[in-house]
Amino acid sequence: MRSILRSTILVAVVAALTMPAFAQDARVAQQVKLRQSAFTVLGAQMSQMGAMAAGRAPYDAKAFRLAAERAAFMGTIVPDLFPAGSAGGKVKDELWQNSADFQKLMNDMKSKTAALSAAAAKGESFDALKPLFGAAGGSCKACHDKYKAD
Ligand code: HEC
Repeated sequence: MRSILRSTILVAVVAALTMPAFAQDARVAQQVKLRQSAFTVLGAQMSQMGAMAAGRAPYDAKAFRLAAERAAFMGTIVPDLFPAGSAGGKVKDELWQNSADFQKLMNDMKSKTAALSAAAAKGESFDALKPLFGAAGGSCKACHDKYKAD
């Protein structure tokens, strides 16, 4: 009887000790999922504009402007999706040790996507938008090359 009681207590203690770890894992998995989803939405806008810029899709000024606006908006969200303790996904470990550099690259992406969106909203020509799109895309690559695993 006593040994049953003892093992019941042991099970309860083990459960109590491991529960927070499970909850923590679930929370991190959720943060990674949200981050990757937001990047997927951002990436979809860039792909849509990229197809037009590369001539794979006909240029549609309205669709381009909308995609640029949405990319700029998503660009303001993704920097907030790297809270401390959310390591995982395709984030390289170096990211957590170089937060100043990472922030700088995020800010660069934010200003480039904002500049593209502003120019598209002003009705700039496709020829004027293309280099701005290229610069925005370059700002994604600059960070991925350093901090995103394939
Ligand atoms: C300052 C760094 C940084 C910038 C700038 C950046 N990214 Fe990323 N991106 C990352 C990291 C890190 C990941 C990996 C996230 C993860 O797996 O949790 C990622 C992941 C992604 C993914 C993959 C999502 C998935 O489901 O695995 C896409 C798509 C993406 N980024 C698109 C973009 C686009 C488009 C831009 C530019 C408009 C951009 N990113 C700018 C760092 C950046």
